[in-house]
Amino acid sequence: MQATLHKDKIKVLLLEGVDPSAKDIFTQAGYNNIVLAKEALSDEALIEALRDTKILGIRSRSQVSQAVIEACAHLLAIGCFCIGTNQVDLDSAKGQGIPVFNAPYANTRSVAELVLGEMILLARKIPQKNALLHRGVWKKTVAGSHELRGKKLGIIGYGHIGSQLSILAEHMGMQVFYHDIAHCLPLGNAKSLKSKQELLETADVVSLHVPENKQTHHLIDSKALSMMKKDAILINASRGHVVDIDALAEALKDGHISGAAIDVFPKEPKTADEAFQSPLKGFDNVILTPHIGGSTREAQHNIGIEVATKLVHYSDNGTTQMAVNFPMVNLPHLDKMLRFLHVHHNQPGVLAAINEVFTENGANITGQYLQTEGDIGYVVMDIEPKGDAKTLLHNLKNIPGTIRSRMLNPLP
Ligand SMILES: NC(=O)c1ccc[n+]([C@@H]2O[C@H](COP(=O)([O-])OP(=O)(O)OC[C@H]3O[C@@H](n4cnc5c(N)ncnc54)[C@H](O)[C@@H]3O)[C@@H](O)[C@H]2O)c1
Repeated sequence: MQATLHKDKIKVLLLEGVDPSAKDIFTQAGYNNIVLAKEALSDEALIEALRDTKILGIRSRSQVSQAVIEACAHLLAIGCFCIGTNQVDLDSAKGQGIPVFNAPYANTRSVAELVLGEMILLARKIPQKNALLHRGVWKKTVAGSHELRGKKLGIIGYGHIGSQLSILAEHMGMQVFYHDIAHCLPLGNAKSLKSKQELLETADVVSLHVPENKQTHHLIDSKALSMMKKDAILINASRGHVVDIDALAEALKDGHISGAAIDVFPKEPKTADEAFQSPLKGFDNVILTPHIGGSTREAQHNIGIEVATKLVHYSDNGTTQMAVNFPMVNLPHLDKMLRFLHVHHNQPGVLAAINEVFTENGANITGQYLQTEGDIGYVVMDIEPKGDAKTLLHNLKNIPGTIRSRMLNPLP
């Protein structure tokens, strides 16, 4: 018995110069119909390119709109080789039974390293010294320069990045404190503090690593800044709206904060042609970076591996673990069984009808997995490879409410 779709019939289209590590993963998994392109494509060109494509890989410039998804409903899956997924109409993709994958944490280390470097530079007043020297001023002074060893780092948001930073900072000899709304186990000797206020009053360096939401909007405002120790340092590489930038500019002007490093802004230019505007421009004691906290070759490499691996898992065995828009099912390795994947509208009667199809076929079911996500259901059935699998698949596809159904077998 053959697999429903042979791997050389599964065309993989990787746009926008996705890191070569992605192609390697597909190749190692036996996929050889891989097309690479450097550019993003317009709606029309994308629809044309997707005509015979099963797996699409993009970065952040491609726009996969509802129109594209409806015209290309035969797509098996979409991989966003980046962190965000708002360039894809996720609901439309879900409605067509197309899972979307990304790599939300592949650049964790890159952000943590940047923050660590910025802390050292700010503690030594390097941005100011660098600016003076560029203007021809040789000001060789020890005033205000500090080691980080023994200083107190306060991390707000002890998730992937915050906890990674905690480890690096502790290796530098810092005392690490953190505040998180969730219960997070401390790493090393880090200490959890109950309130944001306690953290702000304790830390010599405050670094923000929270998501952007209503609760974190202006988490650092003028009141919070006034709670920080005199001459403390503030670092924000999380999201732009977490800090009230006007309030920070005031705190820098009156000298309460000794320096800051800001990588994310409430308003960021969309292209290189757009000028960057911010009240923080012009401060020699502020390091400004254009949202590049996670932008390293290593992060791109890791993203290539992570997203391609998720796409291969889905294509090969139906696993949707970590899909952003789809019921998540983590499936065992497909061994000697036949596997049927059934995506349907989450409506009464579908599960009963699926079971009936297998019962009528006399199939011996060895595994059944079900997960729903809003209005979509995903059922996976493993059976012993006996009987008429093609009729079984045909009958599954005819169940009212079916969005799509696919059969996998362990033979390549
Ligand atoms: N600068 C960049 O290039 C870059 C790159 C990657 C991530 N980020 C941003 O960094 C931030 C952190 O990313 P992550 O991967 O560590 O996220 P994460 O989800 O792993 O961790 C976030 C943590 O913040 C905590 N949190 C949420 N609301 C809070 C609040 N009000 N007070 C205290 N803690 C709160 C959560 O409980 C969680 O532990 C995100 O905003 C992300 O978008 C920026």
